[in-house]
Amino acid sequence: MYIIFEGIDGAGKSTQIEIIKKWLEDNGLEVETLVEPTDSEIGVLIRKILKRPDAATDRMQKVLGLLFAADRMLIMDKLEDDKKIFLSDRSFISSLAYQEPQDWIGSLNKYVKKPDLVLLLDVDIKNSALRFSGEDEFENKEFLTKVRDNYLDIIKEFNHEIINANNGINKVSSDVKKAIASKVGLCRDCIE
Ligand code: TMP
Repeated sequence: MYIIFEGIDGAGKSTQIEIIKKWLEDNGLEVETLVEPTDSEIGVLIRKILKRPDAATDRMQKVLGLLFAADRMLIMDKLEDDKKIFLSDRSFISSLAYQEPQDWIGSLNKYVKKPDLVLLLDVDIKNSALRFSGEDEFENKEFLTKVRDNYLDIIKEFNHEIINANNGINKVSSDVKKAIASKVGLCRDCIE
């Protein structure tokens, strides 16, 4: 079972993954969490490049598209373990939403495992990481608006749920649990 958490920076993906991991484990299920970029050499390089002043240029976004795809290939074997539930913080869907053009990104990620469920933690731009960043607010807002629109479009192709991540942590985690429960054989109506 491969469950992907997506959403713009600041949507609360990592917090929710932690909560959901504990809930699934408390219910006797075996869980492994994944984060993209990973901690491989390629993932480390990606994080370095993301900090460069030219990271947002078209050329560097192409470089990042290639590196994200390579970094992702390194974890594909792991996903073959069908006893585990994998909860992933980002995936190829991030590449489709952030990098361009989508058909090229799609072909680079052709051999990547497709998810059983995509959870889009959808947050208003004003509630996103934009609030906390010292970067150019206008430029960033335009970019994040485009990424959010891309997400809403891309996820239509997959089994997905859109979670309103503007709500408090407990309400969001309850919505996420309800979205996942039947997939993993747990009682949906038992969730508060
Ligand atoms: P995060 O650790 O806060 O999720 O940051 C990872 C950054 O990398 C985030 O800004 C989104 C970006 N990213 C892409 O642009 N493409 C990708 O394929 C992935 C996995 C992440």
